Amino acid sequence: MAKSLTIPPLTEDLAQVLVDAATIERRVDEIAGEINRDYKDISEPLILVGVLKGSFIFLADLCRKLRIPHVVDFIAISSYGSGGDRQGNVRMLMDIREDMSGRDVLIVEDILDSGNTLAYLQRNFATRGAKSVRIATFLDKPERHKVDIKLDYMGFTIPDVWVVGYGLDYKEKYRTLPYIAQMYPVH
Ligand code: IMP
Ligand code: MG
Repeated sequence: MAKSLTIPPLTEDLAQVLVDAATIERRVDEIAGEINRDYKDISEPLILVGVLKGSFIFLADLCRKLRIPHVVDFIAISSYGSGGDRQGNVRMLMDIREDMSGRDVLIVEDILDSGNTLAYLQRNFATRGAKSVRIATFLDKPERHKVDIKLDYMGFTIPDVWVVGYGLDYKEKYRTLPYIAQMYPVH
């Protein structure tokens, strides 16, 4: 019989678990339920656009709970630290492959921090004739917002702390932890 998986323990960088794996799973279930309801009459498959790299685990869990037609695509955005340079400039490094004109698009993001990334994507997608553009973000840090972003689906609100796990990293570390952990201050 296979050994059951153990949960990776906190290391010395990590202060506490903020959201555990079971809580994440329940919340992703609920969000998928909302999306299934909202898009139940969709005519062409919904385009899920995952923002690399942080969204990949949330997107993978979410899309497997969807019961509506959908396709998965990815976009990569430059980040100078988090959320752009001092002016909030962000730049596209890799575009999606799907043509979004006339299509329903759902941006899937790991966390809303300053809002610069999502503001850029909304502006960019608005020029491409999408039928609708909505946003699903796994986490939201309201204290950090610099621009106003309307969230359509949101997992958890967190305080202004650096978090890792479930796709989110600190210098590429801790991205694949199955829970969200708060780091000791690094910024
Ligand atoms: P923005 O500031 O809203 O544009 O967010 C930029 C990006 O910074 C997010 O998509 C995340 O990838 C990253 N980020 C912001 N806060 C955190 C955090 O606490 N942990 C890991 N990544 C973060
Ligand atoms: Mg991100």
